[in-house]
Amino acid sequence: MVLNAESQFRDTNYSTSESAVNSPRHRWYVIKEAFSFELLEAALNESSCDTKDRIIDPFCGSGTIPLAGTVKKHSTIGIEVNPFLAFVSRAKLLQCRPKTLEKYVPLVTKGIRASHISPLEKFSTFSEDGGSSKWLFNKEVLRSYEGGWLKTTDLAAPARSLLRLALVGAAMDCCNGVQDGKCLRYRKDWKSLKLGKSQFLEHFLRRMAYISEDLHSAPIEQNGSKVYLGDARQILKEKQNYKFKLCLTSPPYLNSFDYSDVYRPELFLIKAITKQEQLRALRQKTLRSHVQAKWPNPEKSTFGASYKSMIQQLADRTQVMWNKRLPIMVQAYFEDIENVLTQLRAKALAEASLWMVISTSAYAGIEIPVDLIIAEIGEQVGWKVREVALIRYLRSSGQHIQKQAENANGNSNRLRESIVMLQAGPVASRK
Ligand SMILES: C[S@@+](CC[C@H](N)C(=O)[O-])C[C@H]1O[C@@H](n2cnc3c(N)ncnc32)[C@H](O)[C@@H]1O
Repeated sequence: MVLNAESQFRDTNYSTSESAVNSPRHRWYVIKEAFSFELLEAALNESSCDTKDRIIDPFCGSGTIPLAGTVKKHSTIGIEVNPFLAFVSRAKLLQCRPKTLEKYVPLVTKGIRASHISPLEKFSTFSEDGGSSKWLFNKEVLRSYEGGWLKTTDLAAPARSLLRLALVGAAMDCCNGVQDGKCLRYRKDWKSLKLGKSQFLEHFLRRMAYISEDLHSAPIEQNGSKVYLGDARQILKEKQNYKFKLCLTSPPYLNSFDYSDVYRPELFLIKAITKQEQLRALRQKTLRSHVQAKWPNPEKSTFGASYKSMIQQLADRTQVMWNKRLPIMVQAYFEDIENVLTQLRAKALAEASLWMVISTSAYAGIEIPVDLIIAEIGEQVGWKVREVALIRYLRSSGQHIQKQAENANGNSNRLRESIVMLQAGPVASRK
């Protein structure tokens, strides 16, 4: 399998969420791990899709593809296992009269001003009262949030979700930690910043202003697009009767990044998770790309030649790894990817394309060419490989990218992000 290092996507920002920050609706909640909605435009240009064709993203995260697909008038299916991210994805597809929403802002503002005791106050790391030396939210922020949240309880669905999205966003704007790769990093001087009610209110109103603005300027027509909450491996099995023309997706990278952990504050804030056991249960449903959950061991190991040579080297280095389950995790990850690619193949129309944005990994100095292995798995389960298109080499340890690892000879492994492009039908030869 050959990597196309001269692809049209080389050194672009297609694998980042940069463009979402100022784009209508996408900006309602931006996560660092998102890719660019502009990638959909490119994929549509390269495939023979017209608007009646369905698009799917089985790992839709913050809803980039469900939103971008719906804006382009395609009925789009998203699947997301994390209840907070599914909530964000769904909210971005909502339409409500801006006037209705604006009418409720004073009501919620009143709740914020009045504030209310929060169930999170006693949770360790959430507040000062939890007993830790560092806490994510000052009590005033938690209470302002709770006061606002309670006012949304009886509102009709679209307005309630949009107000709640702005409330969570404002709480995270006032969090003492900021998301930084696999963990939350405390802001410099977080104690002296004394983030409280006035900052919370300011952020809430700022967020509501642009949500309102986007409802005006970027209205959405309901066209059957849908976001399912759940495990893609399961949902793809259960929902049988549809076919798609384009799948554009980015599964979790093979980098031990646990989204349930990273989005833990938001999961508790929206009350999707209220106990640690629920968080453990959620982890069980995530793709086996991290060792934070005790998942069943994989059974398959026939993932092609690139996989075979890599896994042996990896097993030989187990003793120097920070976790001895890493080689099993790598095997389990490819078993999950195979499962998803097989299920997607069964739902693909004859001319369908599948683009998967992915990064390579390295453990104990052994490079894992995730993109090339996925391409080989794709071929094994009935896809044709169009190309593996290089997006960029990763220079630093980004948010969802592990550090460039030193390989066994002391050289640095250059990790890369690329797009694995698969097709259901024959691949035209390149000129
Ligand atoms: C790289 S992110 C996708 C980001 C997305 N492209 C965006 O633009 O926001 C991968 C997503 O897969 C989700 N995920 C992990 N395991 C899953 C599973 N078993 N089923 C569905 N989604 C899963 C994670 O919660 C995460 O949101």
